[in-house]
Amino acid sequence: MTTDPIETASLDELQALQTRRMKWTLEHAYRNVPMYRRKFDAVGVHPDDFKQLSDIRLFPCTTKQDLRDNYPFDTFAVPMEQIVRIHASSGTTGKPTVVGYTQKDIDNWADIVARSLRAAGGTPHDKVHVSYGYGLFTGGLGAHYGAERLGATVIPMSGGQTEKQAQLIRDFRPDILMVTPSWCLNLIEELERQMGGDASGCSLRVGVFGAEPWTQGMRAEIERRLGITALDIYGLSEVMGPGVAMECIDSRDGPTIWEDHFYPEIVDPASGVPRADGEQGELLFTTLTKEALPVIRYRTRDLTRLLPGSTRTMRRMDRITGRSDDMLIIRGVNVFPSQLEEEIFKIEHLAPHYQLEMHRHGHLDSLAIKVELRESSLTLNQEQRCQICNHLRRRIKSMVGISTDIAIVNCGSLPRSEGKALRVADLRPAANQ
Ligand code: DLL
Repeated sequence: MTTDPIETASLDELQALQTRRMKWTLEHAYRNVPMYRRKFDAVGVHPDDFKQLSDIRLFPCTTKQDLRDNYPFDTFAVPMEQIVRIHASSGTTGKPTVVGYTQKDIDNWADIVARSLRAAGGTPHDKVHVSYGYGLFTGGLGAHYGAERLGATVIPMSGGQTEKQAQLIRDFRPDILMVTPSWCLNLIEELERQMGGDASGCSLRVGVFGAEPWTQGMRAEIERRLGITALDIYGLSEVMGPGVAMECIDSRDGPTIWEDHFYPEIVDPASGVPRADGEQGELLFTTLTKEALPVIRYRTRDLTRLLPGSTRTMRRMDRITGRSDDMLIIRGVNVFPSQLEEEIFKIEHLAPHYQLEMHRHGHLDSLAIKVELRESSLTLNQEQRCQICNHLRRRIKSMVGISTDIAIVNCGSLPRSEGKALRVADLRPAANQ
């Protein structure tokens, strides 16, 4: 497998490059973005105060709200004529977050996604089926340009049209699939329908899955049913898009952060105080090469920890447990949907389709879980279904520490994801006001 020299450079070389690039970023942001100048001035720091990597902690963090307050283009550090592309992250409430790219940014992004695909074992001989949405979402076009830069053959499917996508996978015989893991499950159901119940003989070899949290249970399910190796790709629009970090096929031990372009830190999600490598907390990034939209200590709200490099010099990140804003608090216990998913996936009769509902009775919050039965288990009688419910309820109580109401529904009855899965419906009266 070919790698860029920097992927296996010495730590000293990597840190020297990061230091140089970070200094450039701080100066560029301070000089060209009034928001950064105001924020730095407010706490009395100047890019000249940056002498070594740890000095980044002197600088203030940037939040999604900062980007929203400067909607749509006031965060851009170059004149509009140098911006060649705009993307935006949907955002569940309010205005979207707008991001811009110069031609150099687009080139770097393509290089980094091509590097990510090489880390997934991709070569110019591969056909890459891209089912991430094309459009303002960074998934589709980010994957597309990277696969082209690799020299592979790109099949730009975008999202939706499950039946047609399955048909074209059978006809075009792609090697690599790029899609959200939750939508991949729909595709698998359709492929199985078209292929007589077993899709593991399809042409696909590797899946590059991301854009939403997913568990080891989900990985095992996808790998088994598609007969592929499933790898984790991480990214976010504000920092670039897909390819900020990518899991390498030779180690399969969590995404390697492409640290020559993105400098990670972990902080306490409540106080913002830095935490050491290995400790769990909120992930922050400072971009090192972005021209159009440099971000300084951007608070991702994603919770994870930094791990030492394994096959590369660069550090890895652990699987994202969830976003700090996705955390449910059920009667004082903090719960992430992924913890519940882990337990659901351990029960063989249950399908990987579930939905969580938050209710309020009086002053007490409660959580209901609707989960589908696998097609092969549809013959189970009421008593057997009750036993499964009780088993899952007990496991969640002992592993996660909360009581839940569990309902088993027939397969195919829950809505399917259209890209990123919406796992939680908040039906509490206060939440809707
Ligand atoms: O989701 C970019 C992307 C596209 C990444 C395709 C990977 C593949 P946004 O729409 O801005 O960008 O959403 C970013 O998605 O902060 C995480 O909460 C979540 N996320 C992205 N990748 C992963 C992953 C794209 N591998 C937000 N695991 C991030 C868990 C992920 N969560």
